[in-house]
Amino acid sequence: MTTIAISSQKGGVGKTTLSINLAHAFARAGVNTLLVDADPQGSVGLSLTRQSRLLTGFYDFLADPTTPLEQLIVPTRLSTFSLVTCGQASDYEAGGGATGTHLARVRSFLRQIADRGFGLCLIDTAAGLFGITGDIITSSSAVLIPQQAEPLGIRSVPKLLDGLNRLRIMNPRLNVLGVCLTMVQHELAESREVAAALRQLLPPEMVFQTQIPRDSLFVRASARGLPIGVLEEGAGALAVFDSLRGEVDLKLEADSRSSNTFG
Ligand SMILES: Nc1ncnc2c1ncn2[C@@H]1O[C@H](COP(=O)(O)OP(=O)(O)O)[C@@H](O)[C@H]1O
Ligand SMILES: [Mg+2]
Repeated sequence: MTTIAISSQKGGVGKTTLSINLAHAFARAGVNTLLVDADPQGSVGLSLTRQSRLLTGFYDFLADPTTPLEQLIVPTRLSTFSLVTCGQASDYEAGGGATGTHLARVRSFLRQIADRGFGLCLIDTAAGLFGITGDIITSSSAVLIPQQAEPLGIRSVPKLLDGLNRLRIMNPRLNVLGVCLTMVQHELAESREVAAALRQLLPPEMVFQTQIPRDSLFVRASARGLPIGVLEEGAGALAVFDSLRGEVDLKLEADSRSSNTFG
C-alpha cells in the first residue's frame, strides 16, 4: 500500500480540497482508495457521511488503538472510495505532543489498513509538520505539499524549502513528491506571475506541472466536504485531478524503480 500525506506548514493552502479530489481521482481510476482525515478540525466527508462528528474516526483510534477498524472505515457510493473521518477524540491535538509520541499507533493503523486490501491511503493532515502530523509523515511513503499561488506564498518559499529538508531528515525513505500550486487564477496577470516565480524559486522537479485553478465550485464542494466531481457542474474539474494523479503515479513509479536498483 502507498501512503501519501498531504501536508504543509500553513493552513488554508488547499490541503483538504486537494486531498478529497485527488483521492477521488485515484478511486475513479479503480485504485482501492482510503481517504483519512487527520485534521481535528477536519471536514472531509462531512456530507459524504452526513454526520462525521458523530462517527468514530482516526483520533479515536489514536486514543484507543484497540478500536476495531470496521468502526472507522466509512464506505461511499463509489465502491473503491472509503473514508476515515477525524472522529470525536478532539482532546488529541494534532500539533500537540512531541513528534514520535503517536508513531507506534499511526503505524499500527496503517498496517491494519494495508491488511484490508487498500492500494492507496491518502491522509489529509493538520497544518504544521510537528506532533501527530510529524508521526504521519514519518510513517508515510510519500508527501505532497500544496502551496497557494498568491504573492505572500513567495515569501514563504525559504520556509517551504526548509520544511522539505526537515521532512527528508524525519524520514529518509520518504518520497517528497513535490509542491502543487493551488488557487491559481489564470486570468489574472498577478497570479500567473506568482506561479511563474514560485516555479523559478523551487527546484523544477519539485513542482507539479498540474496547477489547481481557483474556482468557486471548490468552495461550494469543500464546504460540504465533497469531491468536486459529485457536483453536476464540477465535471470539468475532473481532468485537473486526473492530470495530477498521472503525475503522482509517475513519481511513485520512478521512486520504486530507483529503490529497486539501489536499495
Ligand atoms: N482551487 C480552489 N479554488 C477556490 N477556493 C479554494 C480552492 N482550494 C481551496 N479553496 C478554498 O479555500 C479554503 C481553504 O482550503 P482548504 O482546502 O480547506 O485548505 P487547508 O486544508 O490547507 O486549510 C476553503 O474555503 C476552500 O473551499
Ligand atoms: Mg484542511
